[in-house]
Amino acid sequence: MEKAFLRTFGKGPAKQYAIDQIRYKDDDGSLLEVVNPLPEYTAEQVSGLRELFSLRYLSLNPLDRSGVWRYREFLPSFKPFDNVVTLWEGNTPIYPLPVCAQYAGMDALLAKHQGNNPTGSFKDNGMTTAVTMARKLGARMVACASTGNTSASMAAYAARARMKSIVFIPEGQIAYGKLSQALDYGALTIQINGDFDAAMNVVQDVCEKGNIYLLNSINPFRIEGQKTIMIEMLHQLGWSVPDWIIVPGGNLGNSSSFGKAFYELKSCGFIDKVPRLAIIQARGAGPLYKSYIASDRTLKPVHAQTRATAIKIGNPVSFSKAWYAVDYCDGIVEDVSEEDIAIAKSRIGADGIGSEPASATTVAGCKKLVEKGVIQKSDQVMCILTGHLLKDPDYSVEFHKDELYLDVERKTTVSGSQKIDTRGFSNKPVQLPADASVLLDYIEKKQQPPS
Ligand code: F0G
Repeated sequence: MEKAFLRTFGKGPAKQYAIDQIRYKDDDGSLLEVVNPLPEYTAEQVSGLRELFSLRYLSLNPLDRSGVWRYREFLPSFKPFDNVVTLWEGNTPIYPLPVCAQYAGMDALLAKHQGNNPTGSFKDNGMTTAVTMARKLGARMVACASTGNTSASMAAYAARARMKSIVFIPEGQIAYGKLSQALDYGALTIQINGDFDAAMNVVQDVCEKGNIYLLNSINPFRIEGQKTIMIEMLHQLGWSVPDWIIVPGGNLGNSSSFGKAFYELKSCGFIDKVPRLAIIQARGAGPLYKSYIASDRTLKPVHAQTRATAIKIGNPVSFSKAWYAVDYCDGIVEDVSEEDIAIAKSRIGADGIGSEPASATTVAGCKKLVEKGVIQKSDQVMCILTGHLLKDPDYSVEFHKDELYLDVERKTTVSGSQKIDTRGFSNKPVQLPADASVLLDYIEKKQQPPS
């Protein structure tokens, strides 16, 4: 079979590069993608492969245990798989969300919780493949810019691979859960005086000049691993395709990888239809949404502002690939307000699941799309919850104390801050004396069925 290779992404004449060439962009700035030469599967081969994937669930081989490498037939660019760096990533559950379904006006709602990954976010699916490639290419040092989760994930996988890692993060703008991970995993952690977009710019420069391997999702091998989020989801659904996938949009690597997954799965005959894709952005960080509404495919960067710090990104690197995913999956882009995000997050919590704020854009977006009549209440909808609740506990505590502000720096600039209305969904902690009768009185007063 033909070997995998790199190709420029986009409509112009495509240039090709060898799979082991260290390159993330073409000279004209276009992104690169991995081209996977997959066969055209017969119906018999499809069912054989599906059976093989199920058998691998029972295997003790680390490659089979990983929810990424289990699907390695769709990752031919990493052959022969002898450099794999895995933490048993993937294997994330699909949960029904009855409280969220009711909130969003749906009969039912499903969530695939990528926060149940080893470092608590979907980044692990792409990091296992990209660090594996780094090892294959002989990289000694890796780097990324991050709003927090990429850095946590990269630091963990680099530590496993005995590589040095450097993270560039926007100063004071990443959640502590994530920062603590990068520090614990031993990454050289550099706080940049600027936002994520500034960090993203500078890391590309540093990597090029310093001969350091770049692990942001501009690296096409990240996208390869993230494809398996969709493959594993289909496996868990018995290979039936949901009506909708809803995903948060930040740097737009995840949305891009989903589009690529469905393109490849359909082209090789593994599935016969694709779901619709809804990409949801925070209102203050929505360059793709703005482009979608204006039907203008040129990226106009914005100065990003949202308390969902994971997606506080105004100049997303995978913009053009995300547009491809929207086109291929008959997709739609929506935005949601800070209040919508905060309340949807509290509803995900009320389902006993929880997520970090960025993930809650999915449930908020679902509600909005139901109200607009785009999603029907009987549709099968899968929200991709991208990060764990404990990534950003400050946000949750501030929400429940009714002290959630858009401007995190409010302590020094109170006058310029904007409070996020919790609309009665907060669950304030109370202080009471350690006296059983007072406590029992209080508990009795509060005896109500859960909302
Ligand atoms: N949700 C979470 C929890 C994230 O951490 C991110 C991105 C996204 C959604 C958006 O995904 O960028 O693929 O569109 N976090 C990156 C980081 C940018 O540095 O951790 P995307």
